[in-house]
Amino acid sequence: MFENISEGTTYKSLINGEWIESTTKKTIEIYSPVDNSLVGKVQAFSKEEVDKIIENSKSAQKAWANKPINERAEILYNAANLLEEHVDELSKILQKEIAKDSASSTSEVKRTVDFIKFTASEGKHLEGQTIGADNFPGFNKNKLSFVTRVPLGVVLAISPFNYPINLSTSKIAPALIAGNSVILKPPTQGAISTLYLAEIFNKAGLPAGILNVVTGKGSEIGDYIVTHKDINFINFTGSTEVGRHIAKIADMVPILMELGGKDAAIVLKDANLELAAKNIVSGAFGYSGQRCTAVKRVLVVNEVADELVKLIEEKVKKLVVGNPDAGADVTPLISNKAADFVQELMDDAIAKGAKLLIGNKRDKNLIYPTIFDNVSTSMRLAWEEPFGPVLPIIRIKDMDEGISIANQSEYGLQSSVFTENVNDAFYVAQKLEVGTVQINNKTERGPDHFPFLGVKSSGMGTQGIRYSIEAMSRPKAIVLNLK
Ligand code: NAP
Ligand code: G3P
Repeated sequence: MFENISEGTTYKSLINGEWIESTTKKTIEIYSPVDNSLVGKVQAFSKEEVDKIIENSKSAQKAWANKPINERAEILYNAANLLEEHVDELSKILQKEIAKDSASSTSEVKRTVDFIKFTASEGKHLEGQTIGADNFPGFNKNKLSFVTRVPLGVVLAISPFNYPINLSTSKIAPALIAGNSVILKPPTQGAISTLYLAEIFNKAGLPAGILNVVTGKGSEIGDYIVTHKDINFINFTGSTEVGRHIAKIADMVPILMELGGKDAAIVLKDANLELAAKNIVSGAFGYSGQRCTAVKRVLVVNEVADELVKLIEEKVKKLVVGNPDAGADVTPLISNKAADFVQELMDDAIAKGAKLLIGNKRDKNLIYPTIFDNVSTSMRLAWEEPFGPVLPIIRIKDMDEGISIANQSEYGLQSSVFTENVNDAFYVAQKLEVGTVQINNKTERGPDHFPFLGVKSSGMGTQGIRYSIEAMSRPKAIVLNLK
């Protein structure tokens, strides 16, 4: 499985328990964002093949749903153990395929091991309930409802480039333990990493057809898969633009979506500024800002702005910039196109008077960590998601102005508030229109059993292990009517 990792390998896809090539004989070349070397080629499946793949998934799912849940859990435990044996290899593949820094790559794989184990355990306690009718007027004890949870059927999992292992698993594992089969459409840039993950599940003992990986460009086969009549649930993580599009065409199919973000770090006058600066730098520049939960703007009260900005700048200057294999903290972005967009936002900020403190330096798709002070709400950088290592500082007069600016965003994923005053912390937190507020910490999704959700343009529904299992299952009521 991992012994033959070599540049230029043509990868087959896991379909019905076999590794197969597309009948189109078409492949997609994946180049490394690090050095533009050919990482490998993946299959480009056609719409006709998608029909057969989904049919296979649908027919295999019935036996999987009937398998005792402790047996399903055992297969997940096997997958977690296998994954744990291959952390280093998978970390290296992530570094090459998506230019993720070494620490973040290893952390992503290790976190996924824990995710799978926790999901297997949690899934075994997916109990239902019995409900008596007699607590409702007009009914007596002769009517009882026995409620269990049953799977939805075929789950379509679509994952993004920035966490191809963890965010594919965050869909696969909860779907599987609930008794669904999974069609996985991985990110094209990240597909190779994801195929290795699929092999882990395959070797762990997943029956044929329970996990099928359909590689191919989302822009080419995405709509066809999303609108296929035999898809029973769509679990999507990616950009708001694509998420909105999928929501429009998905018709009656239930959806769980985690989309873009513009997470604000609000810093009040009594904040522990060293703590705030440490968290803001880690939150803004981790994986070069390519995290949905990255800190994407700082809203700091005027009284402490100069001191905070100085602390942030000092920490940013210590970040190592370069390639993942050189141990860099800030690495090349996923593509030149992505870097162009970040540059566009930086140019707009400069043109409108933002004060460049550090950065605005670029080498192809490598963008150096950048801080802009005195960013105003007239600048695109105040509102748009760069998905790169650039941090705008917006100075505010008080926490009410901070709440107002934070809530004007189209996004509502997470926010942080830094203060030593618990009353102010909760005052701000309760008014912010987001899924999660972090008090005195950077915005982040983990730990993965916490509820994770976005509101407004940041998503629909709630992830987090138990929430995901419940989202990909439903109640089944059997009512007993005694004479
Ligand atoms: P993306 O361009 O939206 O792609 C996400 C996934 O959707 C990829 O697998 C992509 O396939 C697929 N796709 C594209 N068009 C499709 C279509 N018409 N039908 C079905 N699938 C389609 O996002 P990304 O660039 O991979 O990830 C970055 C974005 O995701 C950022 O906005 C980030 O904020 C967001 N994100 C959010 C979270 C969260 O938890 N909230 C987590 C991570 C990332 P291809 O790769 O083949 O195009
Ligand atoms: O952007 C993907 C999201 O899953 C980030 O996770 O824990 O790094 O905030 P985390």
